[in-house]
Amino acid sequence: MQFELINVEKFYQASEENKVYGARNVNLCIPEGEFMALVGPSGSGKTTVLNLIAGLILPTGGSLKHGGSDITSLSLEERTQHRLDYMGFIFQDYQLLPILTAEENIEFPLQLKGFTQQEIKERVSWALKQVGLEKMGKRFPKQLSGGQQQRVSIARAIAGKPQLILADEPTANLDSKTAQEIIELFLKLNKDFKLTFVFSTHDQRLIDQVRTVLYIKDGQITETRTHNV
Ligand SMILES: Nc1ncnc2c1ncn2[C@@H]1O[C@H](COP(=O)(O)OP(=O)(O)OP(=O)(O)O)[C@@H](O)[C@H]1O
Ligand SMILES: [Mg+2]
Repeated sequence: MQFELINVEKFYQASEENKVYGARNVNLCIPEGEFMALVGPSGSGKTTVLNLIAGLILPTGGSLKHGGSDITSLSLEERTQHRLDYMGFIFQDYQLLPILTAEENIEFPLQLKGFTQQEIKERVSWALKQVGLEKMGKRFPKQLSGGQQQRVSIARAIAGKPQLILADEPTANLDSKTAQEIIELFLKLNKDFKLTFVFSTHDQRLIDQVRTVLYIKDGQITETRTHNV
């Protein structure tokens, strides 16, 4: 099922007469298996577009669809459930809970999804294996490097077997070698499981490896480039 943004607009009301556009005339089709990057300067609207796709914020105009059904017409609870069912999230600063081990961090959203203890155990070990951290499950975040913490957060995002991974500047806190390794892991997960990726980045060096690159400026997509990768 594909995600679609049709003529999406999102403005923030900075003051009574001052609207700030985070997204404008955004038309976007994200088919299953897509590998897409949003690239643009600070304040261009990358986070806004990711939050719109996630249904975390609602557009002020246009519509948002998944598999042809309108997401914007769902209730808050239905949208939360929809997100839990179909999406995984990765953040710039990993957002791991410091008091939980790597395993427990991965377990947490699975418990919210209502899996049995046995399923949770299997999924956690599957996810840790996918990111190459089978032996690190008992460690706390502060006992892991930045790259390893990001791998734990990737394991957490994929453990529920979502359709779509959304990642906001996932490599921004990492050195270039580790950033490259993280992108390679994304590419592997995309290839092996047809997992769809949409992520934002500032990093020009990563862009050539991405199938679809959307350049965004002042909330508008100014250019789309497709690479054969
Ligand atoms: N909650 C908000 N209230 C008011 N304005 C906002 C809000 N969130 C974002 N904006 C504005 O919307 C525009 C797009 O912001 P957004 O965070 O989407 O950009 P970005 O491309 O993610 O930037 P960065 O690279 O710095 O993370 C900016 O002008 C920003 O100031
Ligand atoms: Mg941002």
